[in-house]
Amino acid sequence: MWSFGDAYESYVGRWSRPVAVEFLRWLGVPPGRTWLDVGCGTGALTGTVLAHAQPAAITGIDPSEGFLDLARQRVPGATFEAGTATDLGGRTADVVVSGLVLTFVPDVVQAVGEFAQAAPYVGSYLWDYTSGMRMMRLFWDAAKDVDPAAASRDEGLRFSSVSAPGPLRALWAGAGLRDVEVTGIVVPTVFRDFDDFWSPFLGGAGAAPAYAATLPPEQLGAVRDLLRSRLPEHGPIELTAKAWAVRGSR
Ligand SMILES: C[S@@+](CC[C@H](N)C(=O)[O-])C[C@H]1O[C@@H](n2cnc3c(N)ncnc32)[C@H](O)[C@@H]1O
Repeated sequence: MWSFGDAYESYVGRWSRPVAVEFLRWLGVPPGRTWLDVGCGTGALTGTVLAHAQPAAITGIDPSEGFLDLARQRVPGATFEAGTATDLGGRTADVVVSGLVLTFVPDVVQAVGEFAQAAPYVGSYLWDYTSGMRMMRLFWDAAKDVDPAAASRDEGLRFSSVSAPGPLRALWAGAGLRDVEVTGIVVPTVFRDFDDFWSPFLGGAGAAPAYAATLPPEQLGAVRDLLRSRLPEHGPIELTAKAWAVRGSR
């Protein structure tokens, strides 16, 4: 699901970058700190930390070699290493951040425990899959209308136990973090036209594209046509994406 760095970029990497900017503003970490970016992917958040937070050093960690390769090319100035959220290999830093990752980690309690052990300040964000991440919401609603079995793959249903204010607050508090705060971050996602909206779903990288790849051509075409009928016919498609962000300190 995570091996195609370029496909991920056009699917969601391009939208995670503006969320990262707002998230860092909200975290308010002073310059000169060391950072770990867990589940760094193609380096969207890592690069944004370098551009906006003047870190002393930053290491990005991800299990996907394909993403790490692309991150190394895209974000010079950071270190990128293989690893997972549930085993940070004893690494420490002033700040641990993790963008759009926890919903994919098998044991989130263990992961946030690792984060809190590794750093005194821990922040993260996840899409609001239930409603606010419009691009994905529209896709899953259309997919379920065509293929009722898609309900079992819908990220809005699968991830609601993690990606919502209550669960995030409980996770952070459960890891012994204090002054826990959660906020919503909304960014515009503007698509040039329907093709710019639809073609990233065909790239295989991410949960919705991975599901799309399993559909026979006629069902995939029916999802596409339904989406086309629900979106503006002419001009750019102006949607928004909402993420839930959480922060806390040890
Ligand atoms: C939606 S992408 C987010 C990437 C990047 N943080 C961003 O904001 O664009 C999810 C990332 O989580 C990584 N991932 C999946 N399982 C993981 C795990 N158990 N530990 C750490 N990262 C994981 C994937 O390889 C992928 O890079």
